[in-house]
Amino acid sequence: MGGRGSVRDAVVLITGASSGIGRATALAFAADGARLVLASRSGEALAEVERDCRARGGQVLVVPTDITDPAAVERLARLAVRRFGRIDVWVEGVAVGIAGPLGSESVDEIRRLVDTNVFGTVLCARAALATFRAQGDGILVVVGSLLSLLPNPMVPLYSMTKFAVRGLALNLQQAVAGHPRIRVCLVLPGPVDTPFFERAANHTGHQLRAIPPAYAPERLAAAILACARRPRRLVTTGVVAHLALVAHRVAPHTTESLVARWSAAFLTKPASAAPGPGSLFDPPPTGAVHGGHRRGRLRRRLGERLGIAQARRGERARVARDGNSRIR
Ligand SMILES: NC(=O)c1ccc[n+]([C@@H]2O[C@H](COP(=O)([O-])OP(=O)(O)OC[C@H]3O[C@@H](n4cnc5c(N)ncnc54)[C@H](OP(=O)(O)O)[C@@H]3O)[C@@H](O)[C@H]2O)c1
Repeated sequence: MGGRGSVRDAVVLITGASSGIGRATALAFAADGARLVLASRSGEALAEVERDCRARGGQVLVVPTDITDPAAVERLARLAVRRFGRIDVWVEGVAVGIAGPLGSESVDEIRRLVDTNVFGTVLCARAALATFRAQGDGILVVVGSLLSLLPNPMVPLYSMTKFAVRGLALNLQQAVAGHPRIRVCLVLPGPVDTPFFERAANHTGHQLRAIPPAYAPERLAAAILACARRPRRLVTTGVVAHLALVAHRVAPHTTESLVARWSAAFLTKPASAAPGPGSLFDPPPTGAVHGGHRRGRLRRRLGERLGIAQARRGERARVARDGNSRIR
């Protein structure tokens, strides 16, 4: 595994498939004929995604799973292999957030955040790599964040967990270095227009929003699809995110300071909001791809179209390069 290929018929397991980037990724893989295993806590929200994926022609297995539960994650991997015989790509798209200065959150919220973003991600990585080792190939796509590298003092604990996720991915890339057919890709999105901001625990006193300029989730879905076709160690998308990564390499302290100020200032709207745990502990019954944070219908349509076009272009380039072979 780990070769260049089509995702048609590939078995793709996506955690966090009920919302945002994970949901957009499920739809993108379904449109390319992948066989999907969709996981998140809410069975109801997953049923919506299942319906939309089937409408695009994808085969789907839904496994409601809380990734903080070790037995549930083992069961997820087991059911995927039992149904489809293997897992070609495992996309880790789960995270929860807490917004507010350190000390505003409850201790239970800190535990839940670390449990989900770090412990849950580790459990998924263990299950994915165990499956890949047993079958001899596979691609793990870990979704980190620009906040895996850069600070935002308005979400200090979330950023801390994303640093940990990046650390895990870098270590796993070295751990699988002797297995050319097992690959670990790290995706570092900048701000993305998803429901994440309504779902986060919020202690800022104000409503949250995706920090501008937020990208369409379809752009990230296209980047993840590209990792499945042609694995890369580090992927981001969008001019701002690329610029931030380059600037951080050249002038780390100045970049950290600028990004911290910008992202803390623009994470909140003027409108006030009562403090609350968001969906840290309990999932909302329905989900969506978009968070509605990008202004202007034209801009929203363009971003989504661009993401879909990127996914299509990647497939055309692959066919021109490799012919029509399957992902393996
Ligand atoms: N949005 C951004 O601006 C942004 C920027 C950089 C990086 N990212 C990263 O991108 C990834 C996806 O974020 P997103 O914006 O798409 O967020 P999102 O819309 O809030 O989706 C998060 C997903 O995680 C699932 N989830 C939460 N807790 C879970 C648990 N314990 N077990 C299983 N599933 C759980 C949710 O479903 P249920 O509630 O049904 O469980 C949902 O499907 C995350 O890793 C995030 O850190 C996002």
